[in-house]
Amino acid sequence: MESGSRLAALSLLLSLLSPCVRTFSPDQIDPLLYEEQLLWVSGVQGEVNTYRIPLLTFTPKGSLLAFSEGRKSTAMDYGAKFLAMRRSTDKGATWSPTSFIVDDGQTRDGLNLGAVVVDEEMGSVILVYSVCFRLSYCQPSSTMMVESRDDGLSWSPPRNLSVQLGVKSFAPGPGFGIQKRYNPAKGRLVVCGHGTLAGNGVFCILSDDHGQNWYNGAALKSIPYNEKKRALDFSPDECQPVELMDGSIVINVRNQNHYHCRCRMVVRSRDGGLTLPLDNLYFDYELVDSAVAAGALLKDKVLYFTNPSNEQQRINLTLRWSLNEGDSWVNKATQLWAGPSGYSCITSLDSGSPEDRKYIFVIYEKGHKDYDETVSFAKIHLYGGR
Ligand SMILES: *[C@@H]1O[C@H](CO)[C@@H](O)[C@H](O)[C@H]1NC(C)=O
Ligand SMILES: *[C@@H]1O[C@H](CO)[C@@H](O)[C@H](O)[C@H]1NC(C)=O
Repeated sequence: MESGSRLAALSLLLSLLSPCVRTFSPDQIDPLLYEEQLLWVSGVQGEVNTYRIPLLTFTPKGSLLAFSEGRKSTAMDYGAKFLAMRRSTDKGATWSPTSFIVDDGQTRDGLNLGAVVVDEEMGSVILVYSVCFRLSYCQPSSTMMVESRDDGLSWSPPRNLSVQLGVKSFAPGPGFGIQKRYNPAKGRLVVCGHGTLAGNGVFCILSDDHGQNWYNGAALKSIPYNEKKRALDFSPDECQPVELMDGSIVINVRNQNHYHCRCRMVVRSRDGGLTLPLDNLYFDYELVDSAVAAGALLKDKVLYFTNPSNEQQRINLTLRWSLNEGDSWVNKATQLWAGPSGYSCITSLDSGSPEDRKYIFVIYEKGHKDYDETVSFAKIHLYGGR
């Protein structure tokens, strides 16, 4: 054998022996909570009373960014806040100290997170959030954006998207927005969120030029729209969109007033977020829910879902997965935390490497007495640590 082919044979042998390149199939999924650390603890870090509403994403360069609202003086949704961030360049093993990338000052109804969108084509990360969402203490309500073009190290000053979108109470996410990978509208940024309790519904804003210009897309309105709701009214609320392999967008939605069930609503857009027809709405009875924000992610053809799986209370944070894009869920859910738990967001790195295919990462609100005591980061090994 000449030395080139000997080397090739050697590396083939090594790759057969090395456990790192074992590949697994979706029917071997057996999630294991592999590592967990608290990124934020409410009430012990200086100027912040409560950390809530965690978001998590990988940058195009493979850094992990975690975001949350740092609520300055109250645990409530209103009040002044920081937009807090921590960054990890080793896939979540170690994290930078917290930096506050936006400070809304002393406002009585400040910023609310929010959706993080990664533009793979530009290598940028965009955060869309609202200010003055509730209108009781200030007006008007505005949709804002900050952007990082250097892997999350620095952020642009806030830009007011309501100049283009119009002023309206729109709370993006919480979770991630998407950049369409497939047609229709490949490359489009799609950020979905909800309205105020009266003017509730799922609304999507879209950008076809990497976040320069935004316009209003789909609206799935509550019934009765712009009226005070009663128990069991139709009121789609916080939501997480996911692009499926056929290019449609499936949005997993908080069912605010428990219309029809104490479970999740799901609605699909087949035109890149322009419309959400009622024909494409269904209720997922397997995803029991008390009305809370949930996490969803499609990775290597498997759809993952996290929420506090309980009809009445925010407890029992559970990870489920589906091998058919959500038509049904594998009948072995993995409990991540039995106790109080709230909002969650899932991400993963799609580098194609065998190592990165093994993990997903979940950020969630976690506590012993109350779900807003800490924000926790969990690394999940999808194949039981093998
Ligand atoms: C954003 O722009 C809208 C429309 O021009 C304006 O009414 C609103 O006050 C602006 N909001 C902020 C926070 O500057
Ligand atoms: C936790 O979630 C699992 C999966 O949905 C469910 O079987 C179990 O009853 C839940 N436990 C509680 C206490 O809600």
